[in-house]
Amino acid sequence: MTKVIKQHLIRSLAQGQFISGQQLGDELNVSRTAIAKHIKALTELGLDIYSVTGKGYRLSQPINLLDKNTIDSLLNDTRIVVEVHNLIDSTNDYLMRRLPNQLTQGQVCLAECQSAGRGRRGRKWVSPFGSQIYLSMYWYLEQGLSAAMGLSLVTALAVSDAIKEYCDVQVQLKWPNDIYINGVKLAGILIDLEGQALEPSHSVIGIGINLNMPEQAAKAIDQQWTDLQSHCSKNIDRSELSASIIKHLRARLVEHQNHGLTPMLDDWHQQDVFLNKAVRLLTGERVTSGICRGINNQGALMLEVNGQLKPIYGGEVSLRGAS
Ligand code: ATP
Ligand code: BTN
Repeated sequence: MTKVIKQHLIRSLAQGQFISGQQLGDELNVSRTAIAKHIKALTELGLDIYSVTGKGYRLSQPINLLDKNTIDSLLNDTRIVVEVHNLIDSTNDYLMRRLPNQLTQGQVCLAECQSAGRGRRGRKWVSPFGSQIYLSMYWYLEQGLSAAMGLSLVTALAVSDAIKEYCDVQVQLKWPNDIYINGVKLAGILIDLEGQALEPSHSVIGIGINLNMPEQAAKAIDQQWTDLQSHCSKNIDRSELSASIIKHLRARLVEHQNHGLTPMLDDWHQQDVFLNKAVRLLTGERVTSGICRGINNQGALMLEVNGQLKPIYGGEVSLRGAS
C-alpha cells in the first residue's frame, strides 16, 4: 500500500504543478496527515517538494520520470528485458540476488532512486530520486571470470559512445572505472562478479551517471563532481539516454566477447584522461609515481616507473594525477 501511495504521489507531482493535500487524500482514500507523512518520506529520498498554505505541494522543478515503454520501443528488441523501479536498494544488488536462474542475457534494471547505491570498495554512491541514471545489466561470461578483465573499460567506452551520440558531449575516461568531463567525475562503473576463473560465470555491470544533481544530494558527495545537463544544450530525456546506453553497451560487450579489447585500444587511448601524464597509483598506503602509458589488451594500466613499463591489473588501486 505504501508503495502504491508513493507511486501515485510521485506521478501526480512530476509535472511540477501545485496539488492540495486534500485532493491527494481523496484520490488515495487516506487522510491529509497520512499524505503529509508520505511527502516527508519522499523528500528524504531526495525529491525537492515544498508546500504553500492554501495551495498544497509542488516539486521545485518538474521531473522527467523513466518510462519503460519509451525505452522498450527505442530498443525495439523483445529479447531485451528491462525493469524500471521507483525505489531499490541498489540496481546491482537487485540483479545479483537473481543469479543464476532468474535473468536473461543483457537484462537491465533501472531505478529512479537507490537507498544503498554502491561505489567500489563499499563506498557510497549518492543516488537521489528522479534526476540521474542508475542502470545495471546482467552479462553471462561463457569463458569464465578471465573474460571479465576489461569489462569496466568496455562499459566506459559504451557510456562514452551513448553520450556522444545523444548530446554530442565528449567525455574522458579514467582507468579503471570512472568517466570525467573537464577532469571532474561525471559517472562511475561498478562490476560485480560471481563464478570461477575457467567456468561459465556471471557479471552485473552497474553504471551511475549524474544528469541533474539536486542541491541537497550534492552536499553528500565528498569529491568534485559534475552532471551532464550542465554540459549539454538539449533537455536530457532519461529514458532516451538509458536506451542509448543499453544499445551501445550490448554492442561493445558482444564485440569484446568476440574479439577482446584489442579493437578498442585506440578508442580508449583517445579518451584516456591521463595518457602520457604523470600520475600516482594508490594501493592502500602505498603511492607509486609514474607516467600513464594507457592500457594493454588485457585491460591492465601500463604504468611507466623509472623507465620501465609495468602492467597494473586492477583490484584495490586508485589512479590520481601527479599534483
Ligand atoms: P577511484 O575509483 O579511483 O578510487 P573515486 O574516488 O571516484 O575513484 P569510486 O569508488 O570510483 O572512488 O567512487 C565512489 C566515490 O565517488 C565516493 O567515495 C564519493 O566520493 C564519490 N561519489 C559518490 N556519489 C557520487 C556521485 N553521484 N557523483 C560523483 N561522485 C560520487
Ligand atoms: C564508482 O564510481 O565507484 C562506481 C559507482 C557505480 C554506481 C552505480 S549506480 C547503478 C549501480 N548500482 C549501484 O549500487 N552502483 C552502481
